[in-house]
Amino acid sequence: MKAFEKSLDLLQLDYIDLYLIHWPVAGQTLEAWKGLEEIYKTGRARAIGVCNFTERHFVELLRNAKIKPAVNQIELHPHLSQPALVTYCEKEGISCEAWSPLGGDGGKLLDDPVLKGIAGKYGKSVVQVILRWNLQNGIITIPKSIHQARIIGNANIYDFELMADDMKTIKDLDQDSKRFGRDPNTLNF
Ligand SMILES: NC(=O)c1ccc[n+]([C@@H]2O[C@H](COP(=O)([O-])OP(=O)(O)OC[C@H]3O[C@@H](n4cnc5c(N)ncnc54)[C@H](OP(=O)(O)O)[C@@H]3O)[C@@H](O)[C@H]2O)c1
Repeated sequence: MKAFEKSLDLLQLDYIDLYLIHWPVAGQTLEAWKGLEEIYKTGRARAIGVCNFTERHFVELLRNAKIKPAVNQIELHPHLSQPALVTYCEKEGISCEAWSPLGGDGGKLLDDPVLKGIAGKYGKSVVQVILRWNLQNGIITIPKSIHQARIIGNANIYDFELMADDMKTIKDLDQDSKRFGRDPNTLNF
C-alpha cells in the first residue's frame, strides 16, 4: 500500500490504469494481492494483475482472491511462446502480456534467420513481424525503445496480416525453456 501511494505521488496522478505485482514471492503474494484488491476497490487502479505467475502460482492465488488478476505479464517471444501458460490464462479469463517481446536488451532474437525470411516476404521488419504475431495471437505487448523513429515503426503493424502457415512457422520456433530473463519457476526474487 505504501509503495502504491509513493508511485502515485511520483507520477503525480490520481489513479493508474493497471497495477501489477512484479514477481511471485512464496509466503508474501497473497498479502500483496489483498493490498491490490483494496487499491482496486478505491478506484485508484482501474485494473490489477500480476507478472511472472505460472499455473501453480495462480492455483494458490485464485483459491484466495476476491478479484481475479486482469493480466499476467510474462516473458514471451517466438523463442519462448509459453503455449501451456497462455492456454491456462485464456481459460481463466486472464490476459497475457509479453515482456521482452523482442528478446530484451542484447537478445539475439532479432537475428533469427526464419523471422528475417518472413519479414522479407511481407516487406516488414523482424520487430514488426514479432509484434504482429503477438497481436494475432491476442497477446498484449510492451516493446521498449528509446528511439522515436523505432517506436513509430514498431506501432506500424496494422497494414498487414501474417498468413496461417507463417503463424505456425513462428510458433514452431518455440524452444520451450529458452529464456532471456529470469525464471519464476526457480527464482523466488
Ligand atoms: N515484469 C517483468 O518481470 C519484466 C521483465 C523484463 C522487462 N519488463 C518490461 O518489458 C518491457 C520491454 O522489455 P525489454 O526492454 O526487456 O525488451 P524488448 O522490448 O524485448 O527489447 C528492447 C530492446 O529492443 C530494441 N529495439 C526496440 N525496437 C527496435 C527496433 N525497431 N529495431 C531494433 N531494435 C529495437 C531496444 O533498443 P533501443 O531502446 O535502443 O531502441 C532494446 O534494446 C519494458 O517495459 C520492461 O520494463 C518486464
